[in-house]
Amino acid sequence: MFFNFHKNHKELLLTIFVMYAMLSIFIAVVPAIDVQENNGPLPNEKDMTEQERHGLAIFIENGCVACHTQQVRDIAMDKMWGGRPSIPADYFYSKERMNVWQQSPSLLGSERTGPDLTNVGERLNSPQWQYLHLYNPRALVPQSIMPAFPFLFKIKAKADSVRDVILAVPDNFRRGIKGDIVATQDAKDLVAYLLSLKQASIPTPDQFLPNPTSLMKKEQPSVTSASASPGSSSDSSAAMASAGGAPKSNGQALFTSTCSLCHQASGEGIKGAFPALKGSTIVNDADPTLHIKIILEGYDAIPGYGVMPPFKDKFDDDQVAAIINYERTSWGNNAKTITVDDVKKIRATIK
Ligand code: HEC
Ligand code: HEC
Repeated sequence: MFFNFHKNHKELLLTIFVMYAMLSIFIAVVPAIDVQENNGPLPNEKDMTEQERHGLAIFIENGCVACHTQQVRDIAMDKMWGGRPSIPADYFYSKERMNVWQQSPSLLGSERTGPDLTNVGERLNSPQWQYLHLYNPRALVPQSIMPAFPFLFKIKAKADSVRDVILAVPDNFRRGIKGDIVATQDAKDLVAYLLSLKQASIPTPDQFLPNPTSLMKKEQPSVTSASASPGSSSDSSAAMASAGGAPKSNGQALFTSTCSLCHQASGEGIKGAFPALKGSTIVNDADPTLHIKIILEGYDAIPGYGVMPPFKDKFDDDQVAAIINYERTSWGNNAKTITVDDVKKIRATIK
């Protein structure tokens, strides 16, 4: 049977509908589910409090998203909005549905009529500034085109100086209002949310790497955890020390002090930020070339994930081989171990 689109409009419509549905599933639905499922918070990322979560609802309700993005792109002009480009893990705590009727909010935004708010809690961390700016942005930024939100505030003849947040509104912005202008609970929650917007840092190797010389082969730090997995390279390398080129360094100690802050001691990584090494096809590959290269040269291949730093200047061949063998024999991984010569050969091929 051949389709005859010229004669049969039903076939045409059916074909278009099927193609449309398939395209939607493959370019929108599947990737969205993948990002939603494979995500987790960064080590020092804080969950939202009840109040901040309600503040987020006020943020959505008032259409702040129409003018403000929350995404730092990996380009020079976005540097000013945060210390690093945004990654999926940054949105982990806002992925919950708002309620039965409302989906999780789309905070990325697309319009930058106002500044990006990714890190605004760091940049403008004064609650008084935030309240007055919401009451009337022109009171603080004369040329601002941001709308005023006076309905988030109320007027009291005499405010309670302990429980109320009283705004110090300049006279020319009071419009003849006599009493005290105080923040409603909605305004307090919104400001709590704005102040909570701080970009969590990604641990960098230099931040936590102890003095590399303290990890030299001879004076290995003793491994305190009882979790030394059976067959970890430290055991096996000791056993095979004489067998051509088996590394002598303590792979587990080096992994714990250097790699585990990102990839976690469990080898499971952090979804949305650092890939799991447990079960990784690269780590379990019989050909160790890519595995060795990644550790020497760093790696940036998985879209959305951060960048793995290079370690070629931090570790010698013996240490790299020991770490790799630890990865290859831990957390249920069961791949062929490598020799110091394997690392030496690959190091020679990179500059
Ligand atoms: C019509 C577009 C528009 C809307 C809607 C809007 N803003 Fe703005 N916003 C701006 C502009 C423009 C600026 C820059 C000038 C200024 O600081 O007032 C700004 C600035 C800000 C700043 C200061 C950011 C910085 O880094 O200087 C904050 C905080 C802010 N807005 C929060 C909000 C909140 C919360 C809402 C919703 C209640 C909101 N905005 C709604 C346009 C908008
Ligand atoms: C600063 C955080 C960080 C540290 C420290 C770090 N890594 Fe990574 N690693 C990453 C990131 C991010 C990726 C994914 C990079 C990409 O492809 O975008 C990665 C990827 C990998 C991969 C590839 C895994 C796969 O299946 O794709 C291996 C293997 C690996 N790292 C091993 C190590 C080892 C060994 C160490 C310690 C010497 C280490 N990493 C230290 C962040 C880190």
